[in-house]
Amino acid sequence: MVGGNRLVGTVRVPGAKNSILKLMAASLLAEGSTTLTEVPDILDVTIMAELLRRLGCEVNQDVSGGTVRIDVPDKPGHQADYDLVRKMRASICVLGPLVARVGEADVALPGGDAIGSRGLDMHVNGLTRLGAEVTSEHGFLIAKAAQLHGAKIWLDFPSVGATENLLMAAVLAKGTTVIDNAAREPEIVDICQMLVAMGATIEGIGSSTLEIEGVEALQPVTHRTVPDRIVAGTWAVAAVMTQGDITIDQGDPGHLEIALDKLVGCGAMIEELPVGFRVSMDRRPKAVDIVTLPYPGFPTDLQPQFIALNAISEGAAMVTENLFEARFRFVHELGRLGADVHTDGHHALVRGRSRLSGAPVEATDVRAGAGLVLAGLVADGTTTVHEVHHIDRGYSGFVESLQALSADITRVDD
Ligand code: EPU
Repeated sequence: MVGGNRLVGTVRVPGAKNSILKLMAASLLAEGSTTLTEVPDILDVTIMAELLRRLGCEVNQDVSGGTVRIDVPDKPGHQADYDLVRKMRASICVLGPLVARVGEADVALPGGDAIGSRGLDMHVNGLTRLGAEVTSEHGFLIAKAAQLHGAKIWLDFPSVGATENLLMAAVLAKGTTVIDNAAREPEIVDICQMLVAMGATIEGIGSSTLEIEGVEALQPVTHRTVPDRIVAGTWAVAAVMTQGDITIDQGDPGHLEIALDKLVGCGAMIEELPVGFRVSMDRRPKAVDIVTLPYPGFPTDLQPQFIALNAISEGAAMVTENLFEARFRFVHELGRLGADVHTDGHHALVRGRSRLSGAPVEATDVRAGAGLVLAGLVADGTTTVHEVHHIDRGYSGFVESLQALSADITRVDD
């Protein structure tokens, strides 16, 4: 790509990567045909579809229509193999539904993004409280339970993945489960709404205490995926960095309050629309401090994009990363474009530069990749981002959308 163009126009935000994968896993909880809509055309959906097929489901993905239909058999399988799980850590989310529905889940220990250690202790401890026997053998996490029972669970930290797995297990457990210190992300609300439509009883949706009354069986449903707030936020940052004007159709500003407030702090104008919002900018941004935290705090999945933004802003900013220790790895790559970022533990001091200069760089994970593309869009000369398959995991038609907004960018074989 060659930097320097203002991005102007409209982009449509698809359903959220971090929701659809869990909604697909939730389909395992009911025999029959589940349909999911607003499905993003991303690699992780294809991987999850393959995982469900290996569990005996029939999965039909209509990429252009943005729908996935999953036909779940009476007795799904229970094994999620390493070759798929290593490609996508989110595969772990079949653990809860399988143990609840089939009585056993053997899930290979995950790989996924290289962004930190990402333990599974809360998943394991919670399932154990629900009555599962959980062991680890030959690289597999094995959970078994003839019948799960309700329990009180306190999470040490509001983990998104643990909250989802425990929710999906508890809806078919006998009795009442309370999950305290639960995650509250819009993607958690989305899965709760789908489970309720399937016949589950869940109180406290959107709060940090979820109370679930187990039921005997659930029914398949049709469900619309919540819009991707991280994709929406990435477009918002793109508008600010390029001093552009982007209408983010379907984006929900209510899911991005802190991030949008930070952009206003940079000098951006934000206008709420009936279905979406518009971000415009007419000057060099001012640097803004950010601290990542579980929702409703500032999302870690927008941290690399905001480092890229601060790198070209006026002034200096402190960025504190509290979720994934290795998420600063990409600043070395940003440094190749001339960014001035100094990291110390989970803090990064970013001193804004008036210009970056294009260079070859390498994406290390999906959000780092997005951050590097944003930086390349404002750097002088040509930037080449390698390993773009990471970006494909979370952004559908990213290059095409950028072209439509007037970016000078092309995709080449990596
Ligand atoms: N953690 C533990 N033990 C556990 C569970 C989590 O120590 O049992 C730690 C992790 O090591 C990490 C922190 O808790 O340091 C946060 O983990 P969490 O479980 O909340 O995250 P996740 O479910 O693994 C999801 C998203 C991430 C997003 C985080 C935080 C999916 C597929 N992934 O991960 O998305 O960053 O929540 O919001 O939903 C991305 O999209 O780029 C991405 C990495």
